Amino acid sequence: MDMKILVVGGGGREHAIVSALARNSDTEIFSVMGNRNPGISCLARDVKLCKETDISRIVSYARKTGVDYAFIGPEAPLEAGIVDQLESIGIDCVGPTRAAARIETDKAFCRDMMELHRIDGCPKYRVFQDPEGAISFINDHEEDLAIKPIGLTGGKGVRIMGEQVDRAGAIAYVKSLGGSVVLEERLIGEEFTLQAFVDGTHLIPMPLVQDHKRAFDGDLGPNTGGMGSYSMPDHMLPFVSETDYKKALAIMKSTIAAMERTGHPYKGILYGQFMNTARGPKVIEFNARFGDPEAMNVLSLLSSDLSDIVVKITTGTLCAADARFDHEATVCKYIVPTGYPDSPAQGDPITIGNHSSALLYYANVEERGGKLSTLSSRTLAFVGVGPTLEEAEKKAELSASAVKGRVRYRRDIGTRALLDRRIAHMKELR
Ligand code: AMP
Ligand code: GLY
Repeated sequence: MDMKILVVGGGGREHAIVSALARNSDTEIFSVMGNRNPGISCLARDVKLCKETDISRIVSYARKTGVDYAFIGPEAPLEAGIVDQLESIGIDCVGPTRAAARIETDKAFCRDMMELHRIDGCPKYRVFQDPEGAISFINDHEEDLAIKPIGLTGGKGVRIMGEQVDRAGAIAYVKSLGGSVVLEERLIGEEFTLQAFVDGTHLIPMPLVQDHKRAFDGDLGPNTGGMGSYSMPDHMLPFVSETDYKKALAIMKSTIAAMERTGHPYKGILYGQFMNTARGPKVIEFNARFGDPEAMNVLSLLSSDLSDIVVKITTGTLCAADARFDHEATVCKYIVPTGYPDSPAQGDPITIGNHSSALLYYANVEERGGKLSTLSSRTLAFVGVGPTLEEAEKKAELSASAVKGRVRYRRDIGTRALLDRRIAHMKELR
């Protein structure tokens, strides 16, 4: 069946979405993005350069091109109500409405919804709208806390007491935010990501992935959008037990059921970020879209037709057989500008060496006359796919190490040493 799909967004995540859609030669892809992603440009029938939150321009582009569906990559257009607007002109979307996207865009809404519907895995939390209340809570509270701005921060807004800030630093941070915060118990454990396709009622899980937020090897340095990620051939992670997995999946399913009950059924991609603690998985946050980089891991393994999944999501007819993933390991390594995320060098030329061993996904990079140069965010990513984690890592590493320019990446992602540390940490906690 011929279909036209508009993909919104121009990062590595969206290049992975477009690549998966393009495996169906009957699907015509249209793209809206802020900067020209060279990988997406090659695969799309047409590209519009435009701010991803400029909803009225995107809607008129969608109308003009006559697309049947839209796939929304990033969170900012969801918050701006892109799905509501596109659906009002008859374009079905993979992505939640503005109200349903609050699961990501409003951390207070998310926690209150979890508490109200008695969803498992919600840490102890308090919502504050004024700095005085939040500060006196911090002063009276013995244990460490996570301090979270209520709105979107590109994954860089959380501060953890006892890790990044002390009590005085926590108070200063709350003041700088103007007091609108969620304060919650600091969770200790190992993080993992569970993403799922959701059609309003049915939820189909994808392989588990572990992301690496910190900028430098050994989980050091500031938080980033994510420096890379891996997944295992059995679609599990060695520090997540079968029981943990079942709990996490049940949490995601109860969340979808709760959203349906609130009158804002959720459709699109649901991203659950979990902390596997001594007491099982707890929800760090939900995102209303694919993770970046995690989309690159799972979509590189997807053997089913993503265009077909788009139809099933938008018609509420998803079933488990619609989404099959190869049983291989993946390792994704992001190449980023030197100084990223605090003071990224940008506009520097880079050259990609031999990368035949890995998949290449472009992100925030400029191509002029066949030459690439960095912009201020993550540049491009390599995904190695192989029968074991070791082989997948080797492939990603080989390609990443062949890039020349003022860029860097994390060498430790997907290595045995790092995995052993995660496993040992989990054992120690239990
Ligand atoms: P977020 O923006 O919610 O993805 O949070 C960014 C990072 O902060 C997460 O990847 C965690 O490492 C950390 N984090 C968030 N919430 C908590 C929490 N309650 N306890 C411990 N760490 C957390
Ligand atoms: N990798 C984390 C995120 O996309 O939010």
